[in-house]
Amino acid sequence: MNTKTEETPLYVNLNYNNEVIRLAQNENPYGASPKVLAAIQKNIKSVSLYPDVILTELKEKLSIKNNVSPNEIIVAPGSCALIDQLISRLVKSDENVVISKLSFIAYKLCAKIYNRECREAEMENYHVSLKNILSLTDVKTKLIFIANPNNPTGTFFTKTELLSFLKEIPPTTYVVLDDAYNEYVTAQNFPDVLSIYKQYKNIIILHSFSKIYGLAGLRIGYGIIQKPIIDDFEANRVPFSVNSIANIAVLAALDDIEYLQKCASENTKEREFLINKLRMLEYNVIESQSNFIFLYFSTTEKRDNVYDVLFKNKIVVRKMDTFGDNKAFRISIGKPEENKKIVECLKKYNK
Ligand SMILES: Cc1ncc(COP(=O)(O)O)c(C=O)c1O
Repeated sequence: MNTKTEETPLYVNLNYNNEVIRLAQNENPYGASPKVLAAIQKNIKSVSLYPDVILTELKEKLSIKNNVSPNEIIVAPGSCALIDQLISRLVKSDENVVISKLSFIAYKLCAKIYNRECREAEMENYHVSLKNILSLTDVKTKLIFIANPNNPTGTFFTKTELLSFLKEIPPTTYVVLDDAYNEYVTAQNFPDVLSIYKQYKNIIILHSFSKIYGLAGLRIGYGIIQKPIIDDFEANRVPFSVNSIANIAVLAALDDIEYLQKCASENTKEREFLINKLRMLEYNVIESQSNFIFLYFSTTEKRDNVYDVLFKNKIVVRKMDTFGDNKAFRISIGKPEENKKIVECLKKYNK
């Protein structure tokens, strides 16, 4: 492996042959459930057939899981595809989108694709500030995207904070609650987005199967949205966009609750381990409710030096420059032996 970081961009060095420890994209280090892999194998010959375009069985299952009507469920090739569609279908050319600084990059990337104004609210001590988001909104704000927990900082806002924020938002502005990492949350006062969805017609919920479900490569996610918007999205999308193997995989994954619980509890244990050990080594680590942690440094040079130590040991983490911070990186929580290796490498490194 090339150990010169500047010559090895993220997506090239993340090879699939176990040569490197991939801790850059918040994937499930344990992979998909064995039951999911068995279902894929059993159905592998179906790749010659077109997928179910309506996804009836999957929507049924998701509607039961979320206690909403199947008409309020939309399945897409990844939640990124829904972020794209939300902007392309809902935001007119003179309207704007509001997000937090240091939040998931697809929000601003998709706004850029459609040439829509994207306003970025200042954070407060690496936390999403709902107050600052609110102050950037106006009558032309059509969408607000907020991930809870936030990617890349791993911080969260409480139910009380969310409810008082929503009271200030007019019904013509949609608030997208991106729940990509909600399965990893252990905080007690975390908002129950489904009950909030039932209360407010302008709430949109996004879910990903790329994280705890371990299906990032299959590209599948879903949204919970009011029916009129779903009807518009269904009528204006590429046909057959969700592939048959992804459909089969998710049907099996939704049944394997035990596997998800195991992955979540391993993550909690390992998250605590990594945060505690790195803090003992005097790194600035933000408290996280997710499957990654965020480290910040006083200079880019210091950040790069630590990044290089990990990289030379074949551990790939994610620098935060494209997210808007050139003095930080994010480490996805790995398996116990991978996390131990991080700590060992950094123990030997004299800052
Ligand atoms: C907050 C957030 N939302 C959505 C996604 C994208 O998920 P998907 O793979 O389903 O497109 C990610 C991926 O990193 C994310 O961090």
